[in-house]
Amino acid sequence: MKDRTVKETLKRVTEILNPHIPRAAREAQLLLMAHLDVDELWLITHQNVMVKEGKKLFSWVERRAKNEPFEYITNRVSFYSETFFIKEGALIPRPETELLVDEVCKTFPNFDAEITFAEVGIGSGIISIILAKKYKNARFIAVDISKEALNIATINIEKFGLSERIELRLGSLLEPIDERVDYLVSNPPYIEDGVELESNLSYEPQNALFGGAVGDEIIKQLLDVVLNRGIKFFSCEMGYDQKDKIQTYLQEKNFSNLVFYKDYSGFDRGFTLKV
Ligand SMILES: C[S@@+](CC[C@H](N)C(=O)[O-])C[C@H]1O[C@@H](n2cnc3c(N)ncnc32)[C@H](O)[C@@H]1O
Repeated sequence: MKDRTVKETLKRVTEILNPHIPRAAREAQLLLMAHLDVDELWLITHQNVMVKEGKKLFSWVERRAKNEPFEYITNRVSFYSETFFIKEGALIPRPETELLVDEVCKTFPNFDAEITFAEVGIGSGIISIILAKKYKNARFIAVDISKEALNIATINIEKFGLSERIELRLGSLLEPIDERVDYLVSNPPYIEDGVELESNLSYEPQNALFGGAVGDEIIKQLLDVVLNRGIKFFSCEMGYDQKDKIQTYLQEKNFSNLVFYKDYSGFDRGFTLKV
């Protein structure tokens, strides 16, 4: 590998990416920033500095050319202004999931309360971690059916020094939790089985995306558990077209204390149920 200036490296990486992915010049900048661990200002103001390209950068470029998500390549993802570790095996956090965290804070603004949160489907850990930073006296029990996801969540929980307050359990739904839960939060898989997804989504765990033949099966199972166990609050992300079915499902059980929220594009994206 020969050394080149920042400017030459960006040109070379852009040329390699260009036939494969859109916005190749921007992607080249992002990859080089992550590779050098510098910000955009540094990159713009150091165009003539020599760069040790090394094998790592070009293996990243090759992977990106195959449309592997940027976050899996660099092992970093930003959520709620914090940086988390991520790799294949856990869903890449989506920006709209920040709204689920906001929804919890809006619903339960007593940040000093000594309550027990449960999260079903913790994935990389982002939701419980951000909530644990906000609710300083709360305890969290978080479940996932994926061992790989729990391993990734463990790394993030340790990174934020929250191992004492966020406990992980392997299993399905709330089955591994016997304790009283005050607040359940979940971003469950909610896409209908068999829907064809964009190629970059093929890198993400399929059991994090697909929720069943209709898509809302896991959400309905969670609603049943919440009602059976009398869990006071339940905030949940959902698909943009699932509002009516969820509303009807609860009305049939005589529950109507349900508030829906929308995402940044104005689509229905989730709800909070108060029991
Ligand atoms: C959409 S991802 C959400 C991950 C993370 N909470 C986030 O918001 O980025 C759904 C997660 O639920 C997990 N999951 C799927 N079915 C489950 C089940 N029956 N019980 C517990 N977790 C489940 C998946 O392994 C995945 O980690």
